[in-house]
Amino acid sequence: MCGIVGIVGREFYLEQLMKGLKKLEYRGYDSSGVAYVENGELIIRKAVGRIAALEEKLGKENKNKIPIGIAHTRWATHGIPSDVNAHPHIDCSGKLAVVHNGIIENHTELKARLQRKGHVFKSDTDTEVIAHLIEEHFNGSLLDAVRHALVDLEGAYAIAVVHVDVPDRIVAARKGSPLVVGANGDGAYLASDVTPLLHYIRDVYFIEDGDVALLSAGEVKIFRTDGTRVSRPLTHINWTEDAAEKGGYPHFMLKEIFEEPQVIRNAITGRVKNGKTIIAELESIADKLKTTRNVQVVACGTSYHAGLVFKRFLEEYAALNVEIDVASEFRYRKIKFDEDTIVVAISQSGETADTLEGIRIAKARGATIIAVTNVVGSTISRESHAVVYLNAGPEIGVAATKTYVSQLTVLLLIASYIAQLRGFGDKKLMQIVNEIEGMPTIFESILATSNDLTRELAKEYFDYIHFMYIGRGYGYPSALEGALKLKEISYIHASAYQAGELKHGPIALLDRKFPVFAIVPDDSLKTKTLSNIMETRARDAKVVAICTEGDQAVARIVNSRIEVPKVSEPLYPLVMSPYLQLFAYHVAVMRGHDPDKPRNLAKSVTVE
Ligand code: F6R
Repeated sequence: MCGIVGIVGREFYLEQLMKGLKKLEYRGYDSSGVAYVENGELIIRKAVGRIAALEEKLGKENKNKIPIGIAHTRWATHGIPSDVNAHPHIDCSGKLAVVHNGIIENHTELKARLQRKGHVFKSDTDTEVIAHLIEEHFNGSLLDAVRHALVDLEGAYAIAVVHVDVPDRIVAARKGSPLVVGANGDGAYLASDVTPLLHYIRDVYFIEDGDVALLSAGEVKIFRTDGTRVSRPLTHINWTEDAAEKGGYPHFMLKEIFEEPQVIRNAITGRVKNGKTIIAELESIADKLKTTRNVQVVACGTSYHAGLVFKRFLEEYAALNVEIDVASEFRYRKIKFDEDTIVVAISQSGETADTLEGIRIAKARGATIIAVTNVVGSTISRESHAVVYLNAGPEIGVAATKTYVSQLTVLLLIASYIAQLRGFGDKKLMQIVNEIEGMPTIFESILATSNDLTRELAKEYFDYIHFMYIGRGYGYPSALEGALKLKEISYIHASAYQAGELKHGPIALLDRKFPVFAIVPDDSLKTKTLSNIMETRARDAKVVAICTEGDQAVARIVNSRIEVPKVSEPLYPLVMSPYLQLFAYHVAVMRGHDPDKPRNLAKSVTVE
């Protein structure tokens, strides 16, 4: 969690650094802070809460010219959100400042060691030990001091360090947390992701674990911790800077939902031809995909829900047995792997700590890893044998929306590709692939009306304090995802159950104050779900249903409904997504919450 940025050059102003920092606010917003050098002095400013609080504190200072600066936005792990725990952290001399994303696992022991040497600590954070450790090694060269300090650090970090005695250099390093660096004629830049850099450069370095970067005006040099100079490939980023802005919508979440037709187009481009799927990124492991008997899916949260659809589809259309687990459980299971096992890691950010650890374990045991991610150069993408990118563009809203739709699309295409490879490319599969190709148009028509429709529905329901989502088959992942979206941005308690599980306990909760959101497409399990809906009505619960257009059987028994276009069974999770997302969005807004920045959450979960 947390976001870091840094800038060094001749002609920069503090407000430019702040602008970059704001692009990372989605990574945490418990506090923020900056460190910059002015007239040979290290200036530190911090504020609790949103970055806007820091900006306000800075006031006219925002216009200060800065030759060098680093900044941080925090998602608290060690120590409560407070001024003193906000980054940057400084050493005893007050000449050196550090910003950090990650967790230093051996900080207690390092702190004790440094205290014995006379270092005085001010905060409760793990990060402060980094500043003191570098101070111990500082002898005029900041690069060497950082390199030597890193040897003692255990855990995960992306750091940026400045020192008043070297006012034209920033030293940055990473291990386990993301860090992007780059330079142009004017300066050099660093950040936790590419969005702050896009204003200045398009070609960037995703530095690797164990790399230390030395940034000076117009130049980036990369070293290993032993001091060896290394070169890393430049990656060209196509995203426009605009893509990371709100574009006239009140919230990023809404903007990103409205990008879904384009996002599906991007996901399909180059991957579908005449009812067949081609996933070029998987060709190098096609033989393995043809013969494997074990597929394991690993993911968290929304990505896990996309994985459930993938699992069901592969079982149905490729006759493959598929295991799925949330990564935080998976990593501690003693599962047997062999070289035959394919692990599919789904992570829009490509940085989720549990998923990353899951693939590391699976890889060490011989499995072949496929990553499905949105972020080029992310750690998970770099540690996998094959990567299929979503190409969805940056997602700023903390709750996943367009990336979920993109994941579903890409995963359905991957599953179709695997089914074809294994000789199951029959007519039904071709029809589904053709339908996926038509999805951008279907989504355009859905989005033409769904916003108003879901706003009206939200007016009716935003005041309830509980919601129960139910679904069967492909409808169950939609129930889980609908409930997750609602609870994470509106703070209404929402749970999801397989509709058939209701009478094994959850139905006891229902009464007229506890509405049910039923996922009931016109699929092979519909009549079963209808019976479950009747059971909930019998307990006086109000029922909202999302169903296939024109479905009178549903219309007759529910209080309110949303109708979606008729599609093949595995595609209902896709067409239902924008409605479930928009319903949650409007409820959150009506309850006065900012859907882009739900409390206690961060976009990329880089701690366990
Ligand atoms: C919910 C949400 C989270 C993420 C989860 C995994 O809206 O965004 O549940 O899906 O934290 O993140 P990734 O996909 O980046 O691994």
